[in-house]
Amino acid sequence: MTLLRIDASIRIEGSASREIADIVEAEWRAVRPGDTVIARHLGTDPIPSDAWTKAIFANWTPVDERTSDHLAALSVGKELVDELDAADAILIATPLYNFGVSQHVKTWIDLIITDPRAANGAPPILAGKPVVLVVVRGGSYAPGTPREGWDHSTGYLEQILGKVWGADLTVVEREFTLVGVNPALDEFKELADKLNSDAKASATKIGQVIAGA
Ligand SMILES: Cc1cc2nc3c(=O)[nH]c(=O)nc-3n(C[C@H](O)[C@H](O)[C@H](O)COP(=O)(O)O)c2cc1C
Repeated sequence: MTLLRIDASIRIEGSASREIADIVEAEWRAVRPGDTVIARHLGTDPIPSDAWTKAIFANWTPVDERTSDHLAALSVGKELVDELDAADAILIATPLYNFGVSQHVKTWIDLIITDPRAANGAPPILAGKPVVLVVVRGGSYAPGTPREGWDHSTGYLEQILGKVWGADLTVVEREFTLVGVNPALDEFKELADKLNSDAKASATKIGQVIAGA
């Protein structure tokens, strides 16, 4: 069995999204020792942002007229879809950046959709596949908070992974990761600690579930 793990944080040290994803991965490994984990570090080893433009133009160009740039971009999309196909379970960990989707995750999604297997009208590429989406946010976007509705990442990712690609999706969320970092948020320490431990408990549970424990 293969677990595909994708991290979008631009940092390694102190990364809250990696910490939660590490828990999911550790639980998966505990159930499946010796099985394969493939890692893709979108945040620290990004896919070039112009690969998408080149892949789109490649698809608009007759096969025998495609340039080496076109072919290279298409082969990145192919590699990404091959990875999805080969995985039995997928773990994606991403922060909220600037109220939106990490640009690196967006490039990953856009390139996948350039491959014919994931193009509009193709059968859902993740149909029934277990996918865990770990989302971390520095602040809080809970109902009733001043920034309720400002997270323009999580809903989009849920729609792509669950609705468009057909994954069996579980979302693990942790808010207020900037509590303890930004003194203006000190009053939320107790709540932040609880959200952190709740997220870790959810990660433990879902790691076992996707491993088939
Ligand atoms: C450039 C940048 C932009 C960010 N934008 C937001 C934001 O819009 N909303 C938010 O709640 N947190 C924001 N954050 C905070 C991160 O979501 C938070 O620090 C998170 O824990 C980062 O993930 P990591 O710990 O896995 O690296 C931002 C952080 C950075 C570095």
